[in-house]
Amino acid sequence: MAHPVGIEGRHGSAGAPRAIGGLGAISAPPLLETRGLRKHFGGVQAVNGVDLAVPPGDLRAIIGPNGAGKTTLFNLITGDIAHDTGQIYFGGEEVSGLPPHRLCRRGMGRTFQITSIFRRLTALENVQTAFLSHHHRHFNLVVPARRLYRDDALALLERVGLREQAGKPSGILAHGDQRRLELAIALASAPKLLLLDEPTAGMAPRERHEIMALVARIAGDTGLTVVFTEHDMDVVFAVARRITVLHQGAVLAEGAPAEVRANSDVQRVYLGQPVAR
Ligand SMILES: Nc1ncnc2c1ncn2[C@@H]1O[C@H](COP(=O)(O)OP(=O)(O)OP(=O)(O)O)[C@@H](O)[C@H]1O
Ligand SMILES: [Mg+2]
Repeated sequence: MAHPVGIEGRHGSAGAPRAIGGLGAISAPPLLETRGLRKHFGGVQAVNGVDLAVPPGDLRAIIGPNGAGKTTLFNLITGDIAHDTGQIYFGGEEVSGLPPHRLCRRGMGRTFQITSIFRRLTALENVQTAFLSHHHRHFNLVVPARRLYRDDALALLERVGLREQAGKPSGILAHGDQRRLELAIALASAPKLLLLDEPTAGMAPRERHEIMALVARIAGDTGLTVVFTEHDMDVVFAVARRITVLHQGAVLAEGAPAEVRANSDVQRVYLGQPVAR
């Protein structure tokens, strides 16, 4: 068994450039960084002093048991909920306290743990709406709305494997296809960073692997930086370039997949409980 040397625990220095797992000495200033981020709900310290540094091009998994604080961390980063203390930096600038739409304009995209699409609109219309919204455009009399960004939207649907479903109301799509659609909607805003909260929730194992392989391919092709949460450890270890383990709102360990797998703290936290859903 490998020795867990090199794992950056909760005392890792925030702000320092870090090596990207698998790429040896290559390092870059972080695209996303949090320092001492905290959030409590009543007596629950959901996020308890998280230092996170994600370099450009990373494919980062945030893992941890139920209630570890993963979704709360995402919501703090995207501005969906206000943090108590700490700082958030994106692209080298402090963005702490900015609302979600301003962060989205700067290139931060996300999907939610619970599916969020316009169920009555077709898959194509959902993606067209995302393009319209991103480009601040509205329906007008000169160009019929149904033609706006049609080709771009179709290309994105093709990309996520939904070209054949374009004309169907998204509410009747299979669950896995709805999650693919959410990915397409998120990609329509051309993000630099994509935060995916359990993008494979409710999917069968094979489909989980497929969708995360798709995400990895898109990230590899476009240079998109991805941070995702996932409960299926097979998927995490197959896809992630680097893994951050949250436990009780704090970073328990961080490192390349092999390092995290061998870390005794991580093994202890997961011992006796299922690591896959
Ligand atoms: N809006 C809220 N009000 C009160 N407590 C909350 C709220 N949101 C989260 N919590 C609590 O904060 C802690 C962290 O929750 P969070 O949803 O961030 O965990 P998670 O790691 O995403 O879990 P899961 O793997 O189940 O999605 C939990 O104890 C949860 O009950
Ligand atoms: Mg969650």
